Parts: sequence; structure tokens; C-alpha cells
Amino acid sequence: MAILRVNGEERQYDGDPDMPLLWYLRDELGLTGTKFGCGEALCGACTIHVDGTAMRSCQTTIADAEGTSITTIEGLAANGDHPLQVAWRELNVPQCGYCQSGQIMQAASLLKDTPQPTDEDIDSAMSGNICRCGTYPRIRAAIKQAAAATEGTKL
Ligand code: FES
Ligand code: FES
Repeated sequence: MAILRVNGEERQYDGDPDMPLLWYLRDELGLTGTKFGCGEALCGACTIHVDGTAMRSCQTTIADAEGTSITTIEGLAANGDHPLQVAWRELNVPQCGYCQSGQIMQAASLLKDTPQPTDEDIDSAMSGNICRCGTYPRIRAAIKQAAAATEGTKL
């Protein structure tokens, strides 16, 4: 049996330890904010945090995640009011929206480690998150807005 902590709640899972964490989150827990895109760690749609670091849940197994603390977009902030979510709304970042929870989770991991990122930092951290709608300029602007709004505080 695997013990996992998801969005602050302890969970036990008796099934296949080699199952991708993405299936567990979506199908077992109903946390459908995390999306399936490629299944091969190439698009970033399935990005979550494992012990605070952005990871691709399509290529992370239950066994890999055992004993860790997992955060999905649903658990990023109590009321959807993480500074990145606020900036995302204010700047109307999403188009179709499919990639956006992965984008926000990747950006949250960036701001935690690099609170005031340069353009190069942003490009480097976000380069694995694909947006077929091409919202990249608004994503970058929203990351900068959130960084400015939280200057001097730790996310
Ligand atoms: S679905 Fe995981 S990176 Fe594309
Ligand atoms: S908003 Fe449509 S894929 Fe990114």
C-alpha cells in the first residue's frame, strides 16, 4: 500500500504502484485540473508539485511519489488566490485553457526558487510547457506581475 499526501490530505492507494500519478489524481481522486497532453513528459500539461518542485505527473509513478507531499492546481491556494492565479485572471492569460494549470504550477515552482525571475529565467523554466494557443507573452507578463506583487515575500 502506498501512502501519499495530496493537497495536505493523507491518502492510501492499494493499486498498481507503477501506475502514473496523473491517473491516480484524475481518476481516483477526481482532481481533474491536472491535464493529460502527451503522456511522455513533453508538454507540461500534467505538471504538479512533488515536495514543492514541479514534476510531470504522467511520468511519475505512484511508487515514485510514495511518502512525498503532492500539490495539484486545486491545492495551490485555498481560494484560487495564489498571486499567479490573481495575475492570470487580471491579464486574461488563458485562451482554450487546456495547458494553463500546468503553466501555473510550473511558474509557481519557478517563483518559489527564484522570486524575481529575469526573462531568461522565465524562458528557461517555462520552456517545457507547451501552449498550442500561443499565450506565451501573457504567461510571461503574468509571471512578472505576480513577482512584482510579491516582492519581498516568500511564496
Ligand atoms: S502529459 Fe505529462 S508532460 Fe505531457
Ligand atoms: S491556452 Fe490553449 S493550449 Fe494553452
